[in-house]
Amino acid sequence: MRPQDVDSRRLLLEAALDALDEGVHVVDAEGVTVFYNRKMADIEAMSRQDVMGRRIDDVFSFPDAAGSTLLDAVRRGARRDDVRQTYFNRRGQAITTVNRTFPVYADGRIVGAVEIARDVTSVEQLRSTAFGQAGVRYTFASIIAESPAMREVLEQARRAARTDSSVLIVGETGTGKELLAQGLHAASPRRDGPFVSQNLAAIPDTLVEGILFGTARGAFTGAVDRPGLIEQANGGTLLLDELNAMPAPLQAKLLRVLQERVVRRVGDLKDRPVDVRILATMNEDPGRAIREGRLRADLFYRLSVVTLTVPPLRSRPEDIPPLVAHFIARLNRAFGLRVDGCEPRLMEAFIAYDWPGNVRELEHVIEGAMNLMEDEQTIGFQHLPGHVRRRLEQALADEGRVEASARGAGAEVPDDAPRRQAPTGRPEAGPTFRHLIRDYARSLLQDALRETRGNVSEAARRLGMSRQNLQYWLREVGVDPAAYRR
Ligand SMILES: Nc1ncnc2c1ncn2[C@@H]1O[C@H](COP(=O)(O)OP(=O)(O)OP(=O)(O)O)[C@@H](O)[C@H]1O
Ligand SMILES: [Mg+2]
Repeated sequence: MRPQDVDSRRLLLEAALDALDEGVHVVDAEGVTVFYNRKMADIEAMSRQDVMGRRIDDVFSFPDAAGSTLLDAVRRGARRDDVRQTYFNRRGQAITTVNRTFPVYADGRIVGAVEIARDVTSVEQLRSTAFGQAGVRYTFASIIAESPAMREVLEQARRAARTDSSVLIVGETGTGKELLAQGLHAASPRRDGPFVSQNLAAIPDTLVEGILFGTARGAFTGAVDRPGLIEQANGGTLLLDELNAMPAPLQAKLLRVLQERVVRRVGDLKDRPVDVRILATMNEDPGRAIREGRLRADLFYRLSVVTLTVPPLRSRPEDIPPLVAHFIARLNRAFGLRVDGCEPRLMEAFIAYDWPGNVRELEHVIEGAMNLMEDEQTIGFQHLPGHVRRRLEQALADEGRVEASARGAGAEVPDDAPRRQAPTGRPEAGPTFRHLIRDYARSLLQDALRETRGNVSEAARRLGMSRQNLQYWLREVGVDPAAYRR
């Protein structure tokens, strides 16, 4: 290969690594850095020049007896999954990450090691922005609510925004819970304080406590004095996303924060006062979560002073046309297009369809279609990928059948007539539709996990959904990504 080919390949590879949401750090057999992506530089607050071409222990210091996981991988072939590591950069700043580290072999020899890192301390934490509203992108004004049900929810949210009460937001995935939480913060007297959000399903159980409550030096090997997210949200709002994923003993600890307004870091002896408003979301019925032991009743009563229940999109069809218009307008700006709407028949299908992924799914359908458009003005069925189109056409056909039977013409469809066929070829009646959707979702998720060897972030990217949403679906259909890891 000519030298310029090597250079351009390296450039391509670097561009690919820089586009990832996870930190990537690759060392050779000597522990010298050969790749270091942008996200890793962000996480470690280092510049690439400081790290590239140097030995890792010249650049970072590791308080933990085990030392660097990367060096451990090149020296002993050690692999690690989801290990929390705290170390220091050259300026002495503590960095905490959750890592996956593995050695790379060629001809039976270790030639280097790869570390993939998530920065747990800032996972989904929205930092202050130039707008003065700490990290909030949405206000109530950006929430579309035409249906009476959604207007009612918005009205309750407006009233709750004026107070300091905890709010529990319950709704299926993609219904707009995060949007409401951000809107609540932006409309509250705390709007100039921080808005910190943490998805509890996205971090391993063993790490939740340290992340939320903070740690004191010596609490465990390598522990440093570090505030948790509760303290970081002081003066502002903390959103605990997917509260039902929080381990029960920690729910008791959280309750204490709510009742006594103090927080005690892991391994610390003293309580620190905090002034935080807690918002929490759940995507399942709290009653069921309590009965099945995933949610402590006492925490529920304390948090649900105000409960906002966001209805699924299928129960508020009035919101569909304005949401479609809203997404088209936004994407017209982003893509430089002049789309003016969708065909009436497609809108009917949107209204007939039951949207298991709710508003997010609708948004993705519009976005997918507009990606395929050039100078056409109207979105039609031809702009949709085959599987989406089939589902929508099916929804229209089903509705036609329901209408026909409602007019007393149901007898035209004898009971033993072949009904609409599921992708599996099984005959399908109304009540099993959800099961088929779940089966279909399960097989899509399994394929994506197989292709990505159980890497949830990567699988989410391939499926065009957020990591959080994928986690939700994995639980919903009972698929364990660990089973796909090598
Ligand atoms: N009423 C609405 N108006 C405008 N956009 C909306 C509305 N509801 C949802 N969206 C959009 O749908 C997407 C999903 O919303 P959001 O992230 O708030 O859902 P969620 O309920 O938190 O979902 P999950 O349970 O999966 O986390 C976002 O991109 C959001 O912009
Ligand atoms: Mg959410």
